[in-house]
Amino acid sequence: MNRSLSAQERAKRVIPGMTQLLSKRPDMFSLGVWPGYYDKAKGCTVWDLDGNEYIDMSISGIGANVLGYADDDVDDAVVGAIRNGSSSSLNCLEEVELAELLCELHSWAGMARFTRSGGEAMTVAVRIARAHTGKDTVAFCGYHGWHDWYLAANVGTENALGEHLIAGLDPCGVPKALRGTAIPFRFNRLDELEKIVREHGKDLAVIVLEPIRNAPPTEDFVRGVRAAADACGAVLIVDEVSSGLRMNTGGAHLLFGFEPDMAVFSKALGNGYPIGAVLGKESVMQSAQKTFISSTCWTERIGPVAALATLRKHRRENVGSRLMQLGRNVQDGWRHLLTKHGIKSDVNGMLPMSHLDFETPCPQHTKALFVQIMLEQGFLASNLYYAMYAHRDEHVARYLKSADVAFGVIAEGLRNQSLEKMLKGLPSATGFKRLT
Ligand SMILES: Cc1ncc(COP(=O)(O)O)c(C=O)c1O
Repeated sequence: MNRSLSAQERAKRVIPGMTQLLSKRPDMFSLGVWPGYYDKAKGCTVWDLDGNEYIDMSISGIGANVLGYADDDVDDAVVGAIRNGSSSSLNCLEEVELAELLCELHSWAGMARFTRSGGEAMTVAVRIARAHTGKDTVAFCGYHGWHDWYLAANVGTENALGEHLIAGLDPCGVPKALRGTAIPFRFNRLDELEKIVREHGKDLAVIVLEPIRNAPPTEDFVRGVRAAADACGAVLIVDEVSSGLRMNTGGAHLLFGFEPDMAVFSKALGNGYPIGAVLGKESVMQSAQKTFISSTCWTERIGPVAALATLRKHRRENVGSRLMQLGRNVQDGWRHLLTKHGIKSDVNGMLPMSHLDFETPCPQHTKALFVQIMLEQGFLASNLYYAMYAHRDEHVARYLKSADVAFGVIAEGLRNQSLEKMLKGLPSATGFKRLT
């Protein structure tokens, strides 16, 4: 681990917060044991800087690498794009083909715009919706990135975002004048959304939600959010940045019957290459021309080429149903083993993005010990399992065998109150905190 740990120290000196993504910070796993940096990744195997080899059964590039690392089909397409020039003074045809393919997969949609990350794609979508309606206020449910429109929810509130994936997001640096412009409601709580519509309907530009994160939406909720948007003339946006390309080739909203005006994709869309897509009804998308939305690197070629190759393979090989099966096998395995070892916990999440929450007296220590013992057995693992198409049944079987060992050690540690002493690194961090 020497090279990995010294890389972390170097990074902390020159990059505030050490990395560009909270979810890849080693303290989110266990600082001192989590390798943090990789040298090579292929399929579901990762080699760290010290040459240690792991099977990655953790966050799979935090959901970006839906097919697996360095997928040959996607990489061949990307290498072809590089050889033919990934950028020029002219535009690439692949972005037109990608818009056409996304509209074919989502028959309600007529146009698309592209970015290179999920948070900025969401910001584009919200800007278009505000331009379209001429109104300002956003009602939202779930996590949608780091931008001002979203973090505004925490301006002048205790922690409005605390219920929406990441607690403790400090809106420091977000203009205080944005206070009250983003109002949260909880998933499947139509009553909360209806209250927002009653109180703020005349100012409501947007209703935005993920179509699924944990439990599926109820039919009433699906119907109700559309009715709420119609009642006040708000644009309904489904954020598919995480849920897209997990259960099916396209948006999960298609499976649940949501009728959105816009849908936003990123992460899995490029299998790890940067691409974000804002898809929408033509009438709404044309409002992108009322405002200024434009960026140089949104026109490079790798993103659209990777997305086309990913979508085509995903559809051809019915990747969504395989990811569902993998998630089901892992969730069933977790439940069986946790019961066997008498460890109190909650297994949850849409199947391809599963998580287990330890309900022990010291959940963050428990998670860190799980991370540690799984690393010792050759697995990158945490309390999250994001399925990749590269995961074979034998990986799942080996993973569950090792999890059996890890849960056994944890149960023992809980029984004789020695769990903390067994930690070689620090307990896992929760939520957003400054890294020192
Ligand atoms: C639902 C959702 N929206 C938006 C984002 C932000 O995407 P990105 O990290 O690509 O900026 C995420 C990231 O986790 C997400 O899960």
